[in-house]
Amino acid sequence: MSEQSKIDEAAAFIRGEIDLRPEIGLILGSGLGVLADLIEKPIVIDYSKIPHFPVSTVEGHAGELVVGTIQNKQVLIMKGRFHAYEGYAAQTVSFPVRVMKELGIHTLMVTNAAGGVNTSYEVGDLMVIKDHLNLTYRNPLIGPNDNQLGVRFPDMSEAYSRRLRKLAHDVAASQNFSLREGVYAGLLGPSYETPAEIRMLRIMGADAVGMSTVPEVIIARHAGMEVLGFSCISNMAAGILDQPLSHAEVMVTTEKVKPKFLKLVLGIIEAL
Ligand code: HPA
Repeated sequence: MSEQSKIDEAAAFIRGEIDLRPEIGLILGSGLGVLADLIEKPIVIDYSKIPHFPVSTVEGHAGELVVGTIQNKQVLIMKGRFHAYEGYAAQTVSFPVRVMKELGIHTLMVTNAAGGVNTSYEVGDLMVIKDHLNLTYRNPLIGPNDNQLGVRFPDMSEAYSRRLRKLAHDVAASQNFSLREGVYAGLLGPSYETPAEIRMLRIMGADAVGMSTVPEVIIARHAGMEVLGFSCISNMAAGILDQPLSHAEVMVTTEKVKPKFLKLVLGIIEAL
């Protein structure tokens, strides 16, 4: 079956479940799925019900689409995302973004938890993603290009919208805090990086490191969507502090930062 037919089937199924036309899509990383709880009269669709949708496997990542209205805006939230380290192909990880586009979504907001590579960062900081380094050595666009979905060689020179980044800083300022802005290095994982790898990433220009986001953003740009991304600095990357890294620490930090992060995302949805 062609990619387009799969997208059509998934989108048709979702359309059949909702009577809204969401224009904003959100992919929420570890712990932030609670944003979906703020939706009035949410429509919740289990990933397992959607044709061709993969199912996520990591603790702390649910597997639901939640559609509804927040701040008078119709949104579609992916509560739980897919990661290449789970064994999915890059195409599979980013498939939902193509479905979003098919549903009429033109703006994509992505959030993730990331390790702080920039030593001036602190645990709990929020970073608006300025740009990324694709260090997964994979690309979801590999294979024949469907010109209906986008061009063969998509431009990535402003992958993360300058306009939306500015808007994010303005909203944060109105909430009396400031956002970091930096480069997100996307790696495959699932092992965390070694201290040597973190030193390498710093030399390469990374400010934060994580295991998601890059494939989704490549597909979103291919589809002509406007993208805004945030990293919650959930831990300092390996070798910076004299302590081991753990998923537990990541979850604890995202839990602590959650109220601030949610308020920011809500403010941005309102301002969009
Ligand atoms: N490295 C990679 N991915 C991550 C990290 C990290 O330190 N923290 C949260 N996600």
